[in-house]
Amino acid sequence: MSRRLDAPQSGRLDDGAEADGPLEPSVFVIFGGTGDLARRKVLPALYTLHATHCTPSGCVVLGVSRDAEMDDAAYRALAADAVAATLPAGAARAPVTEWAERYLYFCTSGAGTDADFAALRARIEELERSFGYPPNRVFYLSLPPSAFTPTVEALGRAGLNRSEGFTRLVIEKPFGRDLESARALNQLVHHCFDESQIYRIDHYLGKETVQNLLVFRFANAMFETLWNRDHIESVQITVAEEIGVEQRAGYYEQAGALRDMVQSHLTQLLSLVAMEVPSALDADSIRSEKVKALRSIASIETDEAVFGQYVAGMVGGKDAAGYREEPGVAPNSRTETFVALRLELDNWRWQGVPFFLRTGKRMLRRLTEIEIKFRRAPVWMFRTTHTEELRRNTLLLTLQPDEGFSLFFDVKAPGEPFRMRRLPLHFNYASTFAAIPEAYQTLILDILRGDQTLFVHADEVETSWALYAPLLDDRTRPPVHPYPAGTWGPLEAGLISSR
Ligand code: BG6
Repeated sequence: MSRRLDAPQSGRLDDGAEADGPLEPSVFVIFGGTGDLARRKVLPALYTLHATHCTPSGCVVLGVSRDAEMDDAAYRALAADAVAATLPAGAARAPVTEWAERYLYFCTSGAGTDADFAALRARIEELERSFGYPPNRVFYLSLPPSAFTPTVEALGRAGLNRSEGFTRLVIEKPFGRDLESARALNQLVHHCFDESQIYRIDHYLGKETVQNLLVFRFANAMFETLWNRDHIESVQITVAEEIGVEQRAGYYEQAGALRDMVQSHLTQLLSLVAMEVPSALDADSIRSEKVKALRSIASIETDEAVFGQYVAGMVGGKDAAGYREEPGVAPNSRTETFVALRLELDNWRWQGVPFFLRTGKRMLRRLTEIEIKFRRAPVWMFRTTHTEELRRNTLLLTLQPDEGFSLFFDVKAPGEPFRMRRLPLHFNYASTFAAIPEAYQTLILDILRGDQTLFVHADEVETSWALYAPLLDDRTRPPVHPYPAGTWGPLEAGLISSR
């Protein structure tokens, strides 16, 4: 984690990513190197790290895909176009082209046979020789889940799972589709790689505002002392998206919102809010407290969850098609695009406090926030002022957009008659800091540095799948209620939070 916690008292801060110490040079191999994720996120992040001098000693990128027609020149052009498309309007393209010419290479994986992986190994070794690099390698699997297993096995057979330098394996979500498949995948990966070599990505952990949860809770003693069942009445975590399924029906029809968002991103947010104070700011201490928090959750039953699916409506003033009308979606699909659920942690800190998780596509607007409702004042002195509803303070942590937080409290409005107003004490990232780095930039820098704090441990991934087992099982999953696109989800969801 490259974190700078000290800040001047006023003025804007230039908090771009910065390396804590020198990085070792390495070859960064991207499987799925021509795919959507590589073009939108991974390559732009690698370029930014180069341009901001975070990888001064060099990071050679080797794109790998099945495309037998592609060569180094074609890959450089593709990558430079992809990176340039993410730069601010008017930014010069020349530095991107120079980076691509110097550091980008391509190798086909062909049909993925042992001979193809032997050729890949030879190509990596040749690059290491010509650049004079030690054998430090990152293998980034930017691949569909069905390709994880054959690729990991082939890396093992080619002897690419170990080297005299470092060898790191990066796996994108979804890691499995239920407890059983996640366990099987963990076993397979552990057959070739140690846990200390594995970086399971959940890009939410790379978001500055998500990392800020650690600082918010553990650097501000004032909040940490209130962070328990004595003072907090409920916690609600919302990840609402305006976008629909877009062109990803092939994947989403098999996944649905529970697998796509709840098991990963929302569960990560939940564990950061609920975990105990770790003994140190290091990967092992933080990850083990997160797992402990998840393990204390009682299994979630079907009647504690509501599933929804969007039908046609209006989003941002425009007509939006229903989920079943989206390209590639079955006309009778039962895939959920919305989930609301309630859970409780059975531990000393949180006993009896409901946690509500909700997420959906095609919601009224994009919003990721955590709402902490504090308990009501035990005695209400202001009974005669008809302001009963003001009795409780609320903390709203907004993760995106308008990153920041608001603490709502009551003040006396000036003059007569005696009236009170609920007002926020507000902090906003954009007005204080120059720019917030992209999540992938942060995560890739941590991979190069060998810091696993922001990556998901094997235990964590299995524990989170186990939690949702009844909701994943076709025999016990909740019914799917329709909701119009451009709303906050099905009305039935309201019943969960009002219990
Ligand atoms: C991805 C999901 O992991 O996260 C997508 O697969 C979702 O369905 C995306 O749209 C949301 O990420 P962000 O960073 O835009 O909130």
